[in-house]
Amino acid sequence: MEILNTAAALHAYTENARRAGQRIGLVPTMGALHEGHLQLVRAAAQECEVVVTSIFVNPTQFNNPDDFRLYPRLPEEDAALLAPAGCTALFLPSVEEMYPQPTVVRFDFGALERVMEGEHRPGHFNGVATVVSKLFHLSRPHRAYFGQKDFQQVAIVRQLVLGLSFDLELVAFPTIREPDGLAMSSRNRRLSAEARALAPQLYQGLLLAKRLIEEGQLTPAEVQQTAAEFLRAEPAITLEYLAVVDAHTLQPLTDWQPNAPVAICLAAQLGGVRLIDNVVVAVNE
Ligand code: PAF
Repeated sequence: MEILNTAAALHAYTENARRAGQRIGLVPTMGALHEGHLQLVRAAAQECEVVVTSIFVNPTQFNNPDDFRLYPRLPEEDAALLAPAGCTALFLPSVEEMYPQPTVVRFDFGALERVMEGEHRPGHFNGVATVVSKLFHLSRPHRAYFGQKDFQQVAIVRQLVLGLSFDLELVAFPTIREPDGLAMSSRNRRLSAEARALAPQLYQGLLLAKRLIEEGQLTPAEVQQTAAEFLRAEPAITLEYLAVVDAHTLQPLTDWQPNAPVAICLAAQLGGVRLIDNVVVAVNE
């Protein structure tokens, strides 16, 4: 596996691959890799001859300086996991390399970013779209792989690809969970033993909402309220939001729409660590 530290090296590597007729898969990450990431890398390796994984803790997408400072950084451990998963090149740039000058470009994804993560983390998706655009331009992948745990991020990147005519296929993979249901996340490493023991309750809250939707007795607002109350009953969990939304538009639902999938998304803090999770429910009427 090659290790590439500069934008120029990444560009040269992927342009060479293109000229040789090879398919390029890109897996953008912020490192502290877990099984969810590795599944993306393995999928990319099945479909592409060249697999680039980027590890870059992107400062422009953090609205909380402590979250950025404390984000786990384990490049050596990560590199050791990537090669056996089929990664052919690890792109590991510095902040100066990705941002030789401060970026003044601003993205506006409209209603898609005025809810949930976009509402609670001002500027977050502007930073995500900026760095993802840079990675797409530098590596010109045929396919780019993202995890559905960041449900809204996938919707934003899909809009980015359409809006800027990136010539690539976006591939999204379902969330991978620990045996007790906790969604795998790099931030899980920061949980204390107490917080880790409580963390699966987030998924329980989502499953409660899913069951209530499937039973078909309650309105979206009632489902939202019942699941939020379940989570707020645990004092160690600070629920930022739990939203019952249209899985495509991500707008809160006032009523169930026939055959339109619903996403239940949440963000919560446990012992100072912010976690997100979601489940998607098919509503058939
Ligand atoms: O999902 C992430 O880890 C990040 O938001 C991404 C897509 C790598 C952009 O920094």
